[in-house]
Amino acid sequence: MKNNFPNLKLVDHPLIKKDITLLRDKKTQPEYFRAAVRRISNILAVEIGMTLSLKKVNVDTPLERTKGYKLDQQIILIPVLRAGLSMVSGFLDVIPDCKVGHIGLQRNEETLEPVEYYFKIPNVDANSKIILLDPMLATGGSASQALKYLKKRGGKKIVFACLVAAPEGVKKIQKEHNKVEIYSAALDRELNNRGYILPGLGDAGDRTFGTI
Ligand code: PRP
Ligand code: URA
Repeated sequence: MKNNFPNLKLVDHPLIKKDITLLRDKKTQPEYFRAAVRRISNILAVEIGMTLSLKKVNVDTPLERTKGYKLDQQIILIPVLRAGLSMVSGFLDVIPDCKVGHIGLQRNEETLEPVEYYFKIPNVDANSKIILLDPMLATGGSASQALKYLKKRGGKKIVFACLVAAPEGVKKIQKEHNKVEIYSAALDRELNNRGYILPGLGDAGDRTFGTI
């Protein structure tokens, strides 16, 4: 779907539209919320998978030798704790041979600044494809901080996958990390004065884990 942000790829799919509606519905319980996040993540993973590079290999079928392909780069998923964890299984369904690192960031509810509490990622080489996962891109503070860490660790090929993006967050990433492409299932209208996305889906971590 077309939008005005050069760094944003809105993944347009009828099944995503249906599942985003389910996530927005305040009556959707965590069990169904998690399942919908997983299905949307499957589709985002297929879309991002289109950008992976391959190398040619030989393969022996039961009948003869033929040519085939294997991925020629290490793929690393980086969920931003907590809510990003909900997207991991959906990505692993589609791209099982990934390593997984974790970045723990929590937004301070008053300043809206991200506070780091955990960081553990696999070794990164210049060819590694890093897929940063966080369902919500609101002010962009958390994603921007995570991207800074990943670049400091040597990440060169990084994409960011989210479920709902706010224009404010997309602009911040464009300004601070202009080589990072954002894949999102939805682009919402704006942030409210508490930094929540409108119309949004509420607090993604709470909706996922039932901590409301
Ligand atoms: C949420 C969300 C993002 C962040 C987005 O996490 O999962 O990490 O807010 O907001 P931002 O773009 O304004 O930084 P939160 O800090 O609520 O932590 P949680 O996942 O532990 O609930
Ligand atoms: N984090 C969330 O979980 N939801 C929002 O709307 C904004 C930040």
